[in-house]
Amino acid sequence: MKRRKFLKNSGLGAAGLMSVPLVKGCANESESKKEQKDSPPVRPIVIATWDVPNATAKAWEVLEKGGSALDAVEQGVRMEEADISNQSVGKGGRPDREGNVTLDACIMDQLGNCGSVVYLQNIAHPVSVARKVMEETPHVMLAGKGAEKFAVDNGFNRENLLTEKSRKEWEDWKKTSKYQPVINIENHDTIGMLAIDAQGNLSGACTTSGMAYKMAGRVGDSPIIGAGLFVDNEIGGATATGMGEEVVRTVGSFLIVELMRQGKSPQEACEEGVRRIIEKNKGKLDFQIGFIAVNKNGETGGYCIQPGFTYRTYSSEGHQNTPSASHIPS
Ligand code: GLY
Repeated sequence: MKRRKFLKNSGLGAAGLMSVPLVKGCANESESKKEQKDSPPVRPIVIATWDVPNATAKAWEVLEKGGSALDAVEQGVRMEEADISNQSVGKGGRPDREGNVTLDACIMDQLGNCGSVVYLQNIAHPVSVARKVMEETPHVMLAGKGAEKFAVDNGFNRENLLTEKSRKEWEDWKKTSKYQPVINIENHDTIGMLAIDAQGNLSGACTTSGMAYKMAGRVGDSPIIGAGLFVDNEIGGATATGMGEEVVRTVGSFLIVELMRQGKSPQEACEEGVRRIIEKNKGKLDFQIGFIAVNKNGETGGYCIQPGFTYRTYSSEGHQNTPSASHIPS
C-alpha cells in the first residue's frame, strides 16, 4: 500500500485520509467547524464491475496523485478498452451478428455533466470520446457515423477493432447463429467504474461492446445515463453490467441512487434494484444483471441475479475482488 504517499500527495497529511471531513465553503469558521463535525469523512475509493485489477489500479494511481475522480474513471476503464483479451469492451470486443464491433460508453462527473456515445465503430476508446462529447459539445449523446466523425475530428485514430480471436469465434457462431449469450461470458459485458477523490467528488464511467452477436444497430444500457450509470454527488453512484435491455426497463442505476437517497445502504439499494428486475421477469431468469454502488461516505455494495459476478475495489484499505451476493445461490 502506498497510503503514506497518497496522504502526502493529496495534501491530507497527518489529519488522516479517513477522518478528513467534506467542507463545502462555509461562511465562517464556526459554521465550518460544525460542518466538519457533522460531515462524514472523505473516503477515496474506486469500485468497478468484474475482476479488473489493472483498471482499478490505474484509477487508484490517478487518485493517489491527487487527480480527480473523473480522470480516475476515464483512465481506469481505458485499460480494459485497450486490453484485447477482454472481449466485451473496446478493441477485441465480440462483434454484432454482421461482424462489426460496435461500442457504447458514457461518463458522468460530480456536477451532473455527462456525455455518451452509442454504436461507435473503429475507435478504441469510446469513454474518451464520451468525455469529449460532455466537455466540447452542447449535447449529451452522439451516435454511429456522427460519433465516429466527431472522434476523428478530435484526434482519435480509426482502427480495426475486430481481432482474429473474436473474428474466428464469430465465424463459429454463424454456423448455428443461435442467439443465446453465455451468462457471465458472452454477456460479461460492461466495465462500469465509480470513484470518489480526495475532494469527496464522485464520477463514473461505463463502457462495453455490448452483447455478443447482437442485432446490428442494437444499443444496450451502458451509454444511457440513468440506466447503465448514474452519479449524484450528494448521494452516490451506481453502474450496471449484464443484459442491458432489463436495466433500461427499470432505469436501474438511477433507481439505485434514488434508493440510497431514501436511506438505503449501497448493498440494500443494489438488492432492491435487482429485485425490481426479477419482479418484471417472473419465472424467467435466464440472464445476468449485476449492479454495484457507492455512497458519498465510500460505502459500497454489489448484487446480481446469477452467481459468478464479482467487483473490484481499491481504497486505502486495500485492493480486492469481491464475489457478489446473488439472487440465485451458487
Ligand atoms: N450491459 C451492456 C449491454 O447490454 O450492452
